[in-house]
Formats: sequence, C-alpha cells, structure tokens
Amino acid sequence: MELKDVIVQRRTVRKYCGKEVLKEDLEALVEAANLAPSWKNSQTGRYYIIHSKEMIDKYRNDCFGEYNAGNTKGVGALIVTTFVEKRAGFERDGTPSNELGNGWGCYDLGLQNQNLLLKAHDLGLSTLVMGIRDEPKTRSLLDIPSQELIVSVIAVGYALETPDKPNRKAVSDIVKFY
Ligand SMILES: Cc1cc2nc3c(=O)[nH]c(=O)nc-3n(C[C@H](O)[C@H](O)[C@H](O)COP(=O)(O)O)c2cc1C
Repeated sequence: MELKDVIVQRRTVRKYCGKEVLKEDLEALVEAANLAPSWKNSQTGRYYIIHSKEMIDKYRNDCFGEYNAGNTKGVGALIVTTFVEKRAGFERDGTPSNELGNGWGCYDLGLQNQNLLLKAHDLGLSTLVMGIRDEPKTRSLLDIPSQELIVSVIAVGYALETPDKPNRKAVSDIVKFY
C-alpha cells in the first residue's frame, strides 16, 4: 500500500471480529517499530505481546475498566508498550541531558508506536491505542521490570467497523512559520 494511503486511511477501531492474528504479523509490527529513530539510537522501547485468548481475556478483565474492556472484545492481541527509563535523554552518568528527562524516552516510544500502527494498517490489521489501563496490575501480570515505564496498550485485530475520520485541526491552526 502507498505510504500516503496508509497515513490517511489508518483509523482507531473499537469493534473487532475475533479472528486470530498471526504471530509472524505481530513480529513484523515490532520490526517496523524498531526501525524508528531514537535518542542516540538508544532503542529503549519494549513490547509485551499478549496473544493467547485466555491471556487477552484475563488482561481485559483485570487491567481495563468497562470502557476499554468493551472496546477490545474480539481483538487478536494486546501489546503493552514500555520504555527503559533514564536512558534516552540522559548522559552516561545518569544526569538528564535537558529539561525533558524521561520525556525523550516517551517521545521515542511514540515514534516507534506510530510505525507499528502504520505497519498494522499496511497488513490489513486495525489498531486501538489505549492510555487508560491499570498500571500496577499490568506490571504484576506481565512481570514488567521496575526500570521500565509502562505507557500504552495497543490492541491489534481484524475490524468489524469502518469508522469515520474524526475532525482534525487545519494546518494553519497548528503551525507558525518564521
Ligand atoms: C496516547 C493515546 C491514548 C489513547 N487512549 C485511548 C483509550 O484509552 N481508549 C480509547 O478508546 N481510545 C484511546 N485513544 C484513541 C484516540 O481517541 C484516537 O486516536 C483519536 O480519537 C483519533 O482517532 P483516529 O486514531 O481514528 O485518528 C488514544 C489515543 C492515543 C494516541
């Protein structure tokens, strides 16, 4: 698929049909994510992929509230994304390189995550990024190390709906030329 079509057509999907997503496709998503640029090539993004139906249902029950549990019925995988803290945006002695600190790790993870979303669309898969999730329960269920900050959960699956494009601001509203 042409890049411009992938960028324009990708949509958040909140209704899925229950079809299985292949492990090879999930690996291809992380491979695309990993091609994103990162602070000094530090590559601090990490991916915890929940693939079995039993674990998907357990995560939905234990770590989501009613809203995102409902949005993720029938998904083929849930990908918990984290980054190793105090590396991107930090000097070797552990001091922050500037005022953003761990903001840079979050920035890098976002760049990776967008590659993942676009690759998913290219493979005919749909996605839903979720920021509303229970952090302590996620950490405990997946045994995520304390050095990693948990950020989003990305649902991946086959869509049962074709959502309309939500409004976007005009370019003139968000840009200033000098
Ligand atoms: C960081 C982030 C967190 C989000 N959290 C949620 C969420 O918890 N639940 C949900 O249904 N959608 C969530 N969304 C999806 C947004 O609502 C959606 O991306 C936005 O409305 C634009 O729609 P589009 O992705 O189709 O362009 C989140 C998106 C982002 C980027």
